[in-house]
Amino acid sequence: MAQPEPEPEPEPEPYADDGVVQWEVCGHTLRMQQQQLAGGASDGTGWRMWNSALVLAKYIEANAPALLQPRLRRPPGGGGDAAATAAAAAAPVRVLDMSAGPGLLGLACAVCGATHGLAVEVVLTEMPSESLTQLQANVAAANAQLSAALGAAYRPVSAAAFTWGESPSGAAAAAFADGFDVVLVSDCLFIAVRDDLYSELRAAMTTVCTPPPSATPTEQQASTLMLFAYEERCDDEERGFLAELEAPGQAPPFACEEVAAEELDLECTLDDGELGDLFAEVAPVRILRLQRCAQE
Ligand SMILES: C[S@@+](CC[C@H](N)C(=O)[O-])C[C@H]1O[C@@H](n2cnc3c(N)ncnc32)[C@H](O)[C@@H]1O
Repeated sequence: MAQPEPEPEPEPEPYADDGVVQWEVCGHTLRMQQQQLAGGASDGTGWRMWNSALVLAKYIEANAPALLQPRLRRPPGGGGDAAATAAAAAAPVRVLDMSAGPGLLGLACAVCGATHGLAVEVVLTEMPSESLTQLQANVAAANAQLSAALGAAYRPVSAAAFTWGESPSGAAAAAFADGFDVVLVSDCLFIAVRDDLYSELRAAMTTVCTPPPSATPTEQQASTLMLFAYEERCDDEERGFLAELEAPGQAPPFACEEVAAEELDLECTLDDGELGDLFAEVAPVRILRLQRCAQE
């Protein structure tokens, strides 16, 4: 008698409302818990990953060798004595994923670094909340999984508490002490508008793009690259915040350049039905490259 056909394996569900979400980067599957927890200290959004993070993850994967470069410490040939140049060449590229949610972008950078043979050291932060607890669990699980898969090429990432507008303390203070070459900020603009946190977000952006006090005068003039992804949901308020970033008189202003839409994979985003009840419709995703202007 003919055996019944086996049931096909279900397709992995990348955008589950809860449970484990999966995301492919450089041939490796990232698995992250994404549990909606009621109440608590969270702002209600950090439990899941959002469209701008998905688009930015694809952009990073497609451009990793160009993006994951030393910027605060000069690369070889950038001047300075031989010892300083050698030290700069040996130092890892330092990446921050600020307000990381489940952790997609920071983990994607660590995998890209490992698969491209780049020394990349990643720190992820979240506000102290159940979102931070979930992020720390995701980071611990990913470190174990990816170290087993990628060996020593994978540098375990770390997660710490950091609230906009506050001085980094504890693990974040230690993690921020050497400054960052690349900072990722995804879908934080809407929250700053909704919760009236403009100045706090602006202060945090300045803090994480400031070279450490130990930097040499040349390094003090170097500039962190911030990739700032957002979903255009409340046009006037968002435009106002972004215009102020560039305005002279702010200390210090940022130079701002938008990544062309043709360079983005906008097909990877969620559709209306998958957005949950927070938003009525899908908003266009934009990615800006921000760099602090050198101080006079
Ligand atoms: C829309 S979620 C974006 C999460 C993730 N970056 C992404 O794009 O998928 C906004 C994030 O901002 C964080 N957040 C909100 N208020 C904050 C604050 N005052 N300080 C630090 N993070 C904050 C939330 O916890 C959440 O992770």
